[in-house]
Amino acid sequence: ATKGPLAGRRVVITAGPTREPIDPVRYISNYSSGKMGYALASAARMAGADVVLVSGPVSIEAPAGVEVRGVTTAQDMLECASGAVDEGCDLFIATAAVADYRPDSCAGDKIKKTDEGMSLSLVRNPDTLAAIAARADAPFTVGFAAETRDVEHYALDKLTRKKLNMIVANDVSTPGLGFNSDSNAVIAFWAQGQEAIGPDTKVAIAQRLMALIGEHLKSKAGA
Ligand code: PMT
Repeated sequence: ATKGPLAGRRVVITAGPTREPIDPVRYISNYSSGKMGYALASAARMAGADVVLVSGPVSIEAPAGVEVRGVTTAQDMLECASGAVDEGCDLFIATAAVADYRPDSCAGDKIKKTDEGMSLSLVRNPDTLAAIAARADAPFTVGFAAETRDVEHYALDKLTRKKLNMIVANDVSTPGLGFNSDSNAVIAFWAQGQEAIGPDTKVAIAQRLMALIGEHLKSKAGA
């Protein structure tokens, strides 16, 4: 059997961007590389957990020993993550940068350009993190919050509104940190406290975060 502080724990992590199709050759997406989520999956695995990584389209390799389930859209992500949690989950971490909106329909054929402007009609996407946190059998739930201003204010709002156990706030306004880079700087908030981590590599931040989450998991289980 695997050893480590998270041995026997089942962990589900979302990572990467989603893609919301406009027509057969175009989509709406964002700059998430998946690096933060993959680093957390690797840290959880090294701590002994069984890890399912629900990943949007990225170009990085699966961490050793981690089961990757690939998804494309926000709707796929909700289905896949919910299914993985149904299989048993002690800890759910949402690092994915999910598109909040999708085109209300995907054109069957490539949209042709004209001399006129064009507009897209968008509808809201489902929120995987909120759906999992609202379950009666909710695991210990950790969200991420990427903000460009009032980081602490928006992060604390998400902690209470989405009923999370912890929220990890990133200020993504600093060049070289956050989206699509190897480094990050975060502040983890929970009901009774907070801890700033970094600036550092995403790998180092993931290891510290996983240790911090491990301490809280223990106290939630009453161990
Ligand atoms: O992938 P990298 O290049 O390494 O970059 C990492 C990151 C910057 C993407 C990551 O650290 C990060 O901050 N992820 C959250 C991105 C974000 O913008 O989150 P949000 O504020 O839109 O959403 C808040 C939380 O709800 C997140 O945990 C998100 O995964 C979750 N969410 C949001 C919308 C939605 N429809 N479903 C969700 O699960």
